[in-house]
Amino acid sequence: MRFLTLLLFAISCVATVTADDYELQYPLGLKPMRIPKGNELTEAKIKLGKQLFFDPRLSRDDTVSCSSCHEPSKGWSNGDDFATGVRGQRTGRSAPTIINAGYSYFQFWDGRALMLEGQALGPIQSSVEMDLTLEECVAKLNKIEGYRKQFQDVFGTDVTSPGIARAIASFERTILSGNAPYDKFKAGDKSALSDAAERGRKLFFGKANCSACHAGPNFSDFAFHNIGVGMDNDPPDVGRFNETDMLGDRGSFKTATLREIDRTAPYMHDGSLGTLEDVVDFYNKGGIANPQLDEELFPLKLTVAQKADLITFLKEGLSSEDYPDFKPPALPK
Ligand code: HEC
Ligand code: HEC
Repeated sequence: MRFLTLLLFAISCVATVTADDYELQYPLGLKPMRIPKGNELTEAKIKLGKQLFFDPRLSRDDTVSCSSCHEPSKGWSNGDDFATGVRGQRTGRSAPTIINAGYSYFQFWDGRALMLEGQALGPIQSSVEMDLTLEECVAKLNKIEGYRKQFQDVFGTDVTSPGIARAIASFERTILSGNAPYDKFKAGDKSALSDAAERGRKLFFGKANCSACHAGPNFSDFAFHNIGVGMDNDPPDVGRFNETDMLGDRGSFKTATLREIDRTAPYMHDGSLGTLEDVVDFYNKGGIANPQLDEELFPLKLTVAQKADLITFLKEGLSSEDYPDFKPPALPK
């Protein structure tokens, strides 16, 4: 009998290391995330994904990593209007934050990739960003003993591109921001927001109409809208229209999360608005007129004091005390 108990205990130990051995801790205000079947989170996979994310060897000349454009200290975005890839080349759009990106089915400003797994290999192959073919990238990483060993441990294979995508996606799912003053307020602590931020919160969900699109725990409906940014350019970036070919999608982009918004300037898909003051002025005027402008945009007639309160809510209310400021890991040799 004792032997049987021991045996069962031993089997259950093995089962815990091989299956889903990592439980994501959700900060206050966030909901459980859908983790795709076949890419369950494990400690070892997340660790591997973190190394890949910070490793410039995923680029042709070893100069650019995912973290070059998605820097933890800059809100997992970067401070430029456009981001810089290999050989000083500039991307056509601004780098969005990847905080809470695991909640989004559609990835990129125009939703052209699906899920984090579907996104992760894009930048590696972009000639502007990291500029490697997948074959080159896999061959390069297979020469690094530490990676070969970790891929064996995690996936039971040498380095493969689906493995790279799964590991990076798993790491990205751990970059979460919640537990901000707004979440505490919502959970019942009415002193969590200052008076100005509380007035701003009422405007956000009321007169300023921000919550028509920036809704739910991630302050995004994860849908595409035309708010007019860049529509006065010739030719404009038509955004989602490139993917769907539907006229109604012309100039539409994915609603951005507003979590940690104080850290991710400049704003919008083209980085054209430098500050939150500029953003609020933009919305106050009703966006930029064009035939596909979303009907939820109209002049808001906010007073100077109301604009200031709204900005206070965005800055103070949505910045977490447990900001995910991860340090770069040691890289495999
Ligand atoms: C040279 C800069 C650069 C590099 C390197 C880079 N990115 Fe990005 N990233 C961007 C830009 C720019 C966008 C937006 C592009 C667009 O929407 O068309 C983006 C978008 C994303 C998104 C979509 C987020 C969302 O909310 O839609 C994710 C996720 C992401 N990148 C992860 C990664 C990963 C993982 C790597 C490394 C394998 C990486 N990025 C490398 C600049 C970069
Ligand atoms: C009709 C839907 C809609 C409404 C209403 C709306 N937004 Fe947005 N918001 C978006 C979309 C879509 C984007 C991305 C647009 C782009 O880059 O072209 C965005 C982007 C932003 C950004 C930039 C995020 C980043 O990371 O670059 C901020 C800040 C912002 N909105 C704040 C607000 C505020 C404050 C309000 C209310 C005054 C508001 N939004 C109302 C849809 C909306």
